[in-house]
Amino acid sequence: MNNMRMYDIIMKKRDGQELSTEEIGYFIDGYTKGVIPDYQVSALLMAIFFQKMSKRETADLTMAMVHSGEIIDLSSIKGIKVDKHSTGGVGDTTTLVLAPIVAAAGAPVAKMSGRGLGHTGGTIDKLESFEGFSVQMTIEQFIHNVNTVKAAIGAQTADLAPADKKLYALRDVTATVDNLSLIASSIMSKKIASGADAIVLDVKMGSGAFMKDAQSAFELAQEMVDIGNNLGRATIAVITEMDQPLGYAVGNALEVKEAIDTLLGKGPEDLTEVCLTLGSHMLVLGGKAEDFEQGKQILDEVIRSGKGIQKLKEIIQAQGGNPDFVDDPSLMPQAAIIKPVAADQDGYVKGIKADDIGIAALVLGAGRETKDSEIDLAVGVVIHKKIGDFVSKGEAIATIYANDIEKFAEAQKIIKNAYTMTQDLIQKSSLIKGIVTQNGVTKL
Ligand code: URA
Ligand code: CA
Repeated sequence: MNNMRMYDIIMKKRDGQELSTEEIGYFIDGYTKGVIPDYQVSALLMAIFFQKMSKRETADLTMAMVHSGEIIDLSSIKGIKVDKHSTGGVGDTTTLVLAPIVAAAGAPVAKMSGRGLGHTGGTIDKLESFEGFSVQMTIEQFIHNVNTVKAAIGAQTADLAPADKKLYALRDVTATVDNLSLIASSIMSKKIASGADAIVLDVKMGSGAFMKDAQSAFELAQEMVDIGNNLGRATIAVITEMDQPLGYAVGNALEVKEAIDTLLGKGPEDLTEVCLTLGSHMLVLGGKAEDFEQGKQILDEVIRSGKGIQKLKEIIQAQGGNPDFVDDPSLMPQAAIIKPVAADQDGYVKGIKADDIGIAALVLGAGRETKDSEIDLAVGVVIHKKIGDFVSKGEAIATIYANDIEKFAEAQKIIKNAYTMTQDLIQKSSLIKGIVTQNGVTKL
């Protein structure tokens, strides 16, 4: 490896040739250690962006990033550890629902989550709405919790796929994020380093997602499914529509409340459907259900019997949080200003720019503008009208939860502009667009 030169690797990719396993390993190792400078890696990323990578190169890149840091060993957890990953989206509350229902159905959930950057906090931020809840624990404690409670939520440490952290930051400032191989290897390296045996991916498509159209969403899904299976992790992907926020709530404590409602069987229809779909696939891969239909029945029963909500309390309690908040969500942080946003005209909702609803929540303080910003758990937006719904002039299309009157006014303007209305009846489209497995694509 010592006679390898970064210059030659850049030139090779620039000229459209495939990089060898050793070359990919060399550049990832050198970049992680700080031996290869940003400017050379930037040039290589741009070459990859234009020339693309083969499936073999993408798998090699993934494994090189996995090996750039710590690989979490979850082998002392009994059973098949199925992880789940959603590719972005606005107001995505699925993990808060999925972890308890899948665990209650007997499959171990060992979830490494991140803190959020963007519209709202990540899963960990949201869970901090429960007084005392903490992800500070040793890996032994984490494993112990999964073995006893069946689920634990931990924080991705700085040493998990550190090459990806550096590369992602560099891609962000060099216009090289949008490449299938780079996105797929980035996501999959973190899942594999987290110790997952099997992976269910939720690939979002639409205005509120990374992938705006069906074709690129299916391609990204196939790429990740192939990486996972090639590396010995049973992986499937569900393609879900994100042309409007999922559920109604966007904001940390507000989404926790929505997750609680969903666990009680009275949550939004779309959020419930996505959770039951992803959850049933997790049960199938985890060997807890024979097929998708049986998985759904099991999860329906978990919710109906109250085992799901009970499991959430157990998870919260095991990590130092106050489980009473589950029975009384008004104990969570509350906003001082709670006011509706009224419709300016009659009509049917034609579209809701999900990104803009996310930005309204961010403006209110629900998310982080930079990685050191403080987030306000109480604030956010609850929309009341979704695509296809009829709205009368003056009726509330949303409610804003704010702690600052100026931010309220700004959010109100953004929300009004996020909605487009029409006089024509609108057909609601289905939420689950397809499934991608090792054997190909099923469009729904
Ligand atoms: N999320 C990631 O973790 N990596 C990407 O490259 C894109 C989205
Ligand atoms: Ca939501």
